[in-house]
Amino acid sequence: MRRIAIVTSGGDAPGMNAAIRALTRLAISNGLKVLGFIRGWEGILENNYVELDSRTVGGILHLGGTILKTTRCKEFRTEDGLRKAAENLMEDDVDGLIVIGGDGSARGARELSKYTDSKIIVLPASIDNDLYGTDESIGFDTAVNTALAEINKIRDTAISYERTFLVEVMGRRRGFLALEVGLTAGAEIILVPEVEYDKEKIYEILERNAAKGKRSSIIVVAEGVGDTWKLAEDIRKNVETEVRVSVLGYVQRGGSPTARSRLLAALFSQKAIELLLDGVGGRVVGIQGNEITSISLDEACERVKPLNINLLKLAEKLAI
Ligand code: F6P
Repeated sequence: MRRIAIVTSGGDAPGMNAAIRALTRLAISNGLKVLGFIRGWEGILENNYVELDSRTVGGILHLGGTILKTTRCKEFRTEDGLRKAAENLMEDDVDGLIVIGGDGSARGARELSKYTDSKIIVLPASIDNDLYGTDESIGFDTAVNTALAEINKIRDTAISYERTFLVEVMGRRRGFLALEVGLTAGAEIILVPEVEYDKEKIYEILERNAAKGKRSSIIVVAEGVGDTWKLAEDIRKNVETEVRVSVLGYVQRGGSPTARSRLLAALFSQKAIELLLDGVGGRVVGIQGNEITSISLDEACERVKPLNINLLKLAEKLAI
């Protein structure tokens, strides 16, 4: 192992820069050369990279986003694209490739690994936290805290106006973010894509709450649940309450990473470099319990990370 490359792919997550910094510095201190591909897979397809050293990754630890930029690249998903990417990795003498990203990036990495001898390691970084094999991804804690801070403010106006707020959080396919944000914000109702919801039950909860004097509510809705505005309209028609919708949107993807997101970035990076130095590829690094672990890329892509339904039940019990 002489030369490694780093690429950030898919949705950016706070702490990606912390990972770029940690990976670069750990690699350099082990005598490795480090490249950074620009704009995700597109950078590999276009052979667009910069050399990274201790100084180029200075001053970025506290920044959200990714200095390497990111894209969702269609060409990479084709066989020609994958072959071209593999050829470029060979041409650039990349012995090890570290992919920082979420579930989609892991799938891309797995496809690429079929065409290249470069050892590939995935570092989970995603506000969706949906990659199998890790309890938590880099950036998740930051996004939870960002959304929580916003909902705390919404709670103030909800209580003052005695309104029902539907707060939509990100999570196109999975509800990890909605669940953790909902529970910690004390949401009266949490809707996630994994669990089908019953509108009648929502009306019932709101009416029951009103009857006992609880006249404002926060409903946290994961983006992937469906049409939040339509749901708001239905509630308005069926329950005597003023309803407002607040879509938190891209604020959740940005911002300075929390200590937790930075810590994961450092620990995951350490594990990734250790694996590469041992000549091991095809792994996804993660945290399970309190242990930094790795599982095979195949397993990470084939298995579906389960949502903790107990948390959903707990949130329900706490919201009476
Ligand atoms: O990063 C993941 C994610 O934030 C999803 O929760 C969201 O649906 C999606 O990215 C949005 O992606 P884009 O910015 O590419 O539309």
